[in-house]
Amino acid sequence: MSHAIPNTTCCVYLNLREGLKYIYLVTIVLQMKVLTILPVLIGALMLIVIGVSWLITPASAGTASRYNLDYTDADTVAAGKMLYTQHCAACHGKSLEGQKSWRSRLPNGRLPAPPHDASGHTWHHPDKQLFELTKFGPAAIVGGGYQSDMPGYQDILSDSDILAVLAFIKSTWPAQIRERHDQMNLRSMPR
Ligand code: HEC
Repeated sequence: MSHAIPNTTCCVYLNLREGLKYIYLVTIVLQMKVLTILPVLIGALMLIVIGVSWLITPASAGTASRYNLDYTDADTVAAGKMLYTQHCAACHGKSLEGQKSWRSRLPNGRLPAPPHDASGHTWHHPDKQLFELTKFGPAAIVGGGYQSDMPGYQDILSDSDILAVLAFIKSTWPAQIRERHDQMNLRSMPR
């Protein structure tokens, strides 16, 4: 009986050692698992972040960049000014003043070219409309056999040329008008 005690102690001790070894092994395996899973977890997390930011970004963001007039960019405005002088000034005026009595129809029923400065109504139209009016011409945009002296520029100017001309025009407006135009662009965006 007397030797049974150390035996039990020994067994408890051994069991304890076995147990610790087991816990130790499990910890290592778990650590390895975590290490291999970690990149996958990080990847999944990044996808979730990208997805959420895409969802909370207004749908208009893409549209805004497509037609956005870069009127604060000096190079764009300089290029647009040259294109304006070359292609638009003959009708809309060297200083964007438009043709005389531009509010009254000509004898042939067509409208004279309106000014593009703040006194006209160019700034009443959002970017997309200005772009389409220039690219396809007022007749195509109004439709229904509407006649206009202004041609469409789709075969003459590239899309970025058209945006540059319009950016130049916008750069000449007073800050207050530009701000109102920015606001109108935001309102006219498809949601
Ligand atoms: C041959 C003359 C002529 C030329 C050149 C011309 N336009 Fe016009 N444009 C007009 C006339 C006329 C109108 C009035 C629209 C109508 O007929 O109803 C007009 C209207 C516009 C409008 C609409 C303005 C508004 O307030 O409704 C825009 C924008 C415009 N022109 C941009 C341009 C740009 C940019 C160019 C140069 C790339 C250009 N135009 C060249 C004659 C011209």
